[in-house]
Amino acid sequence: MINIPRGTQDILPEDTKQWRYIENKLDELMTLYNYQEIRTPIFESTELFARGVGDSTDVVQKEMYTFLDKGDRSITLRPEGTAAVVRSYIEHKMQGDPNQPVKLYYNGPMFRYERKQKGRYRQFTQFGVEAIGAENPSIDAEVLAMVMHIYQSFGLKHLKLVINSIGDADSRKEYNEALVKHFEPVIGDFCSDCQSRLHTNPMRILDCKVDKDKEAVKTAPRITEFLNAESTKYYDEVKQHLDNLNIRYEEDPNLVRGLDYYTHTAFELMIDNPNYDGAITTLCGGGRYNGLLELLGGPNNTGIGFALSIERLLLALEDEGIELDVEDDFDLFIVTMGHEADNYAVKLLNELRHNGVKADKDYLSRKVKGQMKQADRLQANYTIVIGDQELENNEIDIKDMATGNTEKINLDEVVAYFKKKE
Ligand code: HAM
Repeated sequence: MINIPRGTQDILPEDTKQWRYIENKLDELMTLYNYQEIRTPIFESTELFARGVGDSTDVVQKEMYTFLDKGDRSITLRPEGTAAVVRSYIEHKMQGDPNQPVKLYYNGPMFRYERKQKGRYRQFTQFGVEAIGAENPSIDAEVLAMVMHIYQSFGLKHLKLVINSIGDADSRKEYNEALVKHFEPVIGDFCSDCQSRLHTNPMRILDCKVDKDKEAVKTAPRITEFLNAESTKYYDEVKQHLDNLNIRYEEDPNLVRGLDYYTHTAFELMIDNPNYDGAITTLCGGGRYNGLLELLGGPNNTGIGFALSIERLLLALEDEGIELDVEDDFDLFIVTMGHEADNYAVKLLNELRHNGVKADKDYLSRKVKGQMKQADRLQANYTIVIGDQELENNEIDIKDMATGNTEKINLDEVVAYFKKKE
């Protein structure tokens, strides 16, 4: 037997209904905020992520599915959506669109070669948004409000929004220098990743899972002390909007995020349930990326966005015991007795379906009792039994499965009966 690859999953029919429900709800919410859907390829040039996400990040260094195609081009299965959406924005010159900012959302599979655990997959489905072309604290606040709205609209309550500002490039330059100075004397005690990042990307040390409890991490200088006046003002205004919107948040100066493109606002939404027993608590993450467009050869427009995985949203729903109101009704199951009746049912089904009625019949020559059981399993709202007598008299009993009541109608009026119910 050939098994499914590690870190991937089949989403079976009983679960695809939940996925569809979630995805439809997300589509609906996006219309409220005036975001339009964009679909980009599953694979891109490796260089896009190496440059956009950053050469020294875990994602680029360890987690990408990269291969040479038959034309010897280095191709990567997308590990995230932002770099690809920004590429598309630049390629299609969306900065020329009179509707600014350009507000986009996407939903699709992403790939990261990570250690598999609950809530962490090698193929996962990210829903994300990017608002490109406005640098205004109110759009940062809109994106944060949208994150909360999304999770709350599924009934989730145990949520914690954590925010930080990692400032502009100038603030970060000074901060990085201070971090190097701070960690240099003790770097020998840190993991090899941190050692190699000290001079390329010292902020990553604050994010290291291996060294997170080291004293030097706890006593490290904080970005908030290095924000210049402009960055502080921007951050204060974002927080002021959140306060006005009554959105509760916690500030964490060590929240630096794992991808290199962030500037100013950075945030994560966490599960905040004391009884939650999983290791993964981050549901969603995002932030502002002011230099990314230029880095990828575009205009100096700025953007902000976030992404969540549907897998982790489902995990949070499970944790809070929330069942989605997945509509699962089925109109009619036709029970047949004998060859003639079955032939009649084939034609009747065809007509019913063309008139929008969800209907089915037996295909395994089950006895009547077995067919009734099948109708129950399908949770059919109605059943009819067709045999020789019904065919001859053009009359059948239509049974309402919820009440058990039956009604006599003409066999050739079954379609009309359901049409009337609409
Ligand atoms: P990220 O923090 O790398 O950010 O991922 C965002 C979300 O994707 C995570 O919070 C989590 O829900 C989900 N996720 C990531 N890796 C996995 C995995 N292996 N299995 C399941 N879920 C996963 C980004 O990707 C940025 N592009 C977000 C962004 C958009 N920033 C600005 N715009």
